[in-house]
Amino acid sequence: MLAELDTTESAALADLEAAGDAAALEAWRIEWLGSKGRLKSLMGRMKDVDPGDRPAFGQRMNAMKKLLEAAFAERKAAGDAAPSGPAIDVTEPGIPMGLGQRHIISRTIAEILEVFARMGFESATGPEVEDEWHNFTALNVPESHPAREPIDNFYLDGGGMLRSQTSTVQIRVLETTPPPVRIVAAGRVYRPDTHDATHFSMFHQVEGLWVDRGVTMVDLKSALLGFAHAYFGEEAEVRMRPSFFPFTEPSAEVDMKMRIKGQWQWVELGGCGLVDPNVLTAVGLDPEEWSGFAFGLGVERIAMRKYGIADIRWLFENDARFLRQF
Ligand code: DAH
Repeated sequence: MLAELDTTESAALADLEAAGDAAALEAWRIEWLGSKGRLKSLMGRMKDVDPGDRPAFGQRMNAMKKLLEAAFAERKAAGDAAPSGPAIDVTEPGIPMGLGQRHIISRTIAEILEVFARMGFESATGPEVEDEWHNFTALNVPESHPAREPIDNFYLDGGGMLRSQTSTVQIRVLETTPPPVRIVAAGRVYRPDTHDATHFSMFHQVEGLWVDRGVTMVDLKSALLGFAHAYFGEEAEVRMRPSFFPFTEPSAEVDMKMRIKGQWQWVELGGCGLVDPNVLTAVGLDPEEWSGFAFGLGVERIAMRKYGIADIRWLFENDARFLRQF
């Protein structure tokens, strides 16, 4: 009887070896290890064994059951890990790396600065965390001016603020550089505006400043027109409408005529004027000797009109599907 068990075990192992796929393996399990399987029915023959041989028979049966279960588990694990056929297809092309690109606002800024560089304007920068002197006081914005209201600015707990305009860089440059000075300054500015299609609490401006002897509105208009022609095309036009800014006198709003979807249209882009004598005085320059012009343009305005972007929020959601169009 015990010898018969050895034969049975060999037969079971040979069968297992021959099981070619997952279905055959499962069939083997049911046939040999199942609740109505062959091991179970062999167990049932215990009663035919001589009582003295029964312990040995039981031990032999248990050993066989363990062995077959282990052999089955091993085959099954190997089958799960290795699908039929080669594990990888070495001829399949790789997944290409996504190529990045500059954000449309960064690119627009670079293009604007490049045009002004060709007119002799150097690029300058200033901090985004500013003090009220550079953001307001030196720019001839008095303490009582509504533009300084807490509700319209990001004041910081420890003092200072997030700059609300790049005009701060006019002061920063004039404090450290003796004229003549001809700079453009691009960067982020911050205002607590409620977000909608045309407002965002962070946006970008390009500031221009030329301080020299005898600078006039003609120089201002020439510089803006030079930019418009280089950036929007020879048919572009510049229009100035009288306005008020504390840091310029006289002051004007700047419109530029640009082609939008094939149609030439006037678009309001920012403000400009001749540097107010109080600003020159604030940085220690004699307004009788020195004069200048300044302008500030909205970068998002330029980019949104140029590329037909209807909502400023789309620029800053970091949705690559949107951004990679430009
Ligand atoms: N700083 C102004 C603003 O944020 C824009 C501006 C207007 C800048 C006139 C200038 C200027 O330099 O001369 O609304």
